[in-house]
Amino acid sequence: MTQMERTFTIIKPDAVRDAHTGAIIEKIESAGFKIVALKMLHLSHRQAECFYVEHRDKRFYDELIEYMTAGAVVVAVLEKENAVEDYRRLVGETDPRRAERGTLRALYGRDVTQNALHASDSIHSARRECSFFFSESEMTI
Ligand code: RTP
Ligand code: MG
Repeated sequence: MTQMERTFTIIKPDAVRDAHTGAIIEKIESAGFKIVALKMLHLSHRQAECFYVEHRDKRFYDELIEYMTAGAVVVAVLEKENAVEDYRRLVGETDPRRAERGTLRALYGRDVTQNALHASDSIHSARRECSFFFSESEMTI
């Protein structure tokens, strides 16, 4: 039997500003993910830098931090069997122009930076990212 798993997502500033939050949440739930925790916040520079520390040496890092702090985001913990892999598939490739039709980035992303969503890339990252934004009690439902 496949294990119940948790993953973490961010609805990024472009998608929130474009009023896609409701549509995106609807698609996430329709795909079988249970929302375990959810909140809206505006990331500080420091929070964004810590969250994306693995990308600190990439050429797109400064642009990424600027983008992620430009407006409100919605962060959420999602639960489903095989959640990490299945959610990456639902979100689609990093560049929305290359993302498969029907994926969230193909539907709502603008370009390789402003790509509407974040999705954890492993169970290990998911754990770190969930606890970056939520306390244990906030994730206990
Ligand atoms: P994410 O972490 O947001 O789920 O995206 P990802 O795994 O598909 O992509 P990743 O390589 O982890 O990159 C993190 C975010 O940085 C921005 N990016 N810009 N200009 C560029 O070439 C470029 N490449 C990546 C995107 O916002 C990407 O989601
Ligand atoms: Mg990533």
